[in-house]
Amino acid sequence: MQQKIKRFHTVRRTLGVRELLAETRIDPSDLIWPLFIREDIAAPVPVPSMPGVFQYPPDIAINEVETAYRSGLRGVLIFGIPRQKDAHGTSAWNPQGGVQTVIKGIKQRVPNIVIFADCCLCEYTNHGHCGILTTRGLDNDATLDCLKKIAFSYANAGADFIAPSGMMDGAVQAIRQSLDDARHNHTGILAYSAKYASSLYGPFRDAAGSGTQFIGDRKHHQIAPTQRREAILETVQDISEGADLVMVKPGMMYLDIIRELRDQIKTPIVAYQVSGEYSMLQLAIKHNLANDRDIIMESVISLKRAGADLIITYAARDILRILSS
Ligand code: PBG
Ligand code: ZN
Repeated sequence: MQQKIKRFHTVRRTLGVRELLAETRIDPSDLIWPLFIREDIAAPVPVPSMPGVFQYPPDIAINEVETAYRSGLRGVLIFGIPRQKDAHGTSAWNPQGGVQTVIKGIKQRVPNIVIFADCCLCEYTNHGHCGILTTRGLDNDATLDCLKKIAFSYANAGADFIAPSGMMDGAVQAIRQSLDDARHNHTGILAYSAKYASSLYGPFRDAAGSGTQFIGDRKHHQIAPTQRREAILETVQDISEGADLVMVKPGMMYLDIIRELRDQIKTPIVAYQVSGEYSMLQLAIKHNLANDRDIIMESVISLKRAGADLIITYAARDILRILSS
């Protein structure tokens, strides 16, 4: 007797049944919106390579976050662009700095939003590198001393999570120790554990002004795209050093890493849809190669389906708009 065919269309035919049976859902609280705080401006400045993304002066940034909170946003990631840069990135731990001001302002106005503060030197150094530069390259351990100062300063301002993004060895442990010593036991750490040396960070260096004097690359400290096991080792190490959350970055080109980590660890995983990924989507939309809502939603669904708990995306506000319509 001929076998009856299985009718898979039954579970796909209507929007209603597709919604009921969706295995992956995007919720406003899945999203973290990155924003750039620039100290030397009075009005928002658009980032040319990232349509829809702006650098904000501190006071306007606080207003924008408050508005986004009302439309459902629950997490922000703060980057700073200082008035002055020097070899050691000292403005990063200025208690009156743009990032510190914004953290304090958000905590006052919207205490319920979760603040992640990027902790790296590249936006603050005049050479654009993520640490202290010597004739022999980056001095990992000298950089850790700076990261501790930055972390302490952000925790004082009220950050919920410190996010060391420079891939310095031992950064998580150093920051954990310094936070604990300062009785900031409840300030957490989001570790950029599986951060790849990617060609997709170009627009970010525009947005963060961290590429101006940039000579060389970050291949000495970021993971090579060929490596899978190394990313797992880095992540396991960061967890043992005290990371509360770990990250895979970029997200869309590294879905296999997200999935593999999801299957191996219990720690929450954050996927970063980076600047280059965002700009590629925007370019596709601009050239009518894809429907804007569809491609944006598909891109974040893929990250969540791979196993991410949270998604950092420059499209966060657009997604909130799509979800509420
Ligand atoms: C710097 C940093 C980078 C990003 C976040 N923090 C760039 C880099 O490592 O060169 C990239 C984010 C993005 O591209 O959206 N530590
Ligand atoms: Zn950096």
